[in-house]
Amino acid sequence: MIDFSHVTKTYPNGDIVLDDVNFSVSPGEFVIITGKSGAGKTTLGRLLIRDLLPTKGKIVIDGEDLTKIKTKNVSLIRRKVGFVFQDYKIIPDKTVNENITIALEIAGYNRKKIAEKIKNLLDMVGIPGKGDLFPGQLSGGEVQRAAIARAIAADPPILFADEPTGNLDQETSIEIFKLLQKINSDGTTIIMATHDVTLINLNPDRNIHLDKGKIISDLDGKPDHTKQSEPRHSGLDPESSKEESQTTQTIPPKPKLKKYKRKINKTK
Ligand SMILES: Nc1ncnc2c1ncn2[C@@H]1O[C@H](COP(=O)(O)OP(=O)(O)OP(=O)(O)O)[C@@H](O)[C@H]1O
Ligand SMILES: [Mg+2]
Repeated sequence: MIDFSHVTKTYPNGDIVLDDVNFSVSPGEFVIITGKSGAGKTTLGRLLIRDLLPTKGKIVIDGEDLTKIKTKNVSLIRRKVGFVFQDYKIIPDKTVNENITIALEIAGYNRKKIAEKIKNLLDMVGIPGKGDLFPGQLSGGEVQRAAIARAIAADPPILFADEPTGNLDQETSIEIFKLLQKINSDGTTIIMATHDVTLINLNPDRNIHLDKGKIISDLDGKPDHTKQSEPRHSGLDPESSKEESQTTQTIPPKPKLKKYKRKINKTK
């Protein structure tokens, strides 16, 4: 579904921010990207939505090579990857409803469907009844929930959450993390960047650790046969989806991490 192959990103000032990064993500996975400030987590997310192009290497989503797609088709990639920004990027002078409406209008929903969608989304992320409030009237955790609602509004098959618990207390961080797990159990592939190593112990699937732009570990918490139910989204890699559908439909208890170590910097 997602494949980073020998991806290097150098900014114009010459800094190598990502250095020969290789990993693949299958539909339905929940991947945590950890690494110190400056390790390259946000850069990796920006590459995934084709906000940046790699200096070297290839990024493929559902068979589409992001380094080759035409600019006019970038919006198609953005529909596949919802993004929760590190600084929220919620528009402060618009209400929660209005913020989410913009995302849904871009995705082509009509007014009636938008109202229905927003109600369901706010219920799902745990802020029912807050739609008419402005971001400044919400708590930090609620703003984050609104940002997540906006990012998943148009049902992207992939969600990149950039430091979604960055400014929150531990209890609220765990609530947000559980919300992401719920979204993942509905079939959305999640990649979450975080400094918060305590969240790794709650992670059901996988932790990729970046250090100075290099993947230094890629730990898988569960064997393939325990993969979750078939993704609900369309537009997934048919081969990967086939593999998913052959696996069990029951969600097993989540094993602890550090059981399986992926091959780092595999050659494709
Ligand atoms: N547009 C840019 N031009 C030059 N350097 C940049 C640019 N954007 C990011 N960088 C540099 O790239 C490195 C990685 O930045 P990035 O934002 O990806 O890190 P991060 O892991 O997300 O950090 P944090 O945990 O603080 O959010 C940093 O050293 C940063 O200064
Ligand atoms: Mg960042």
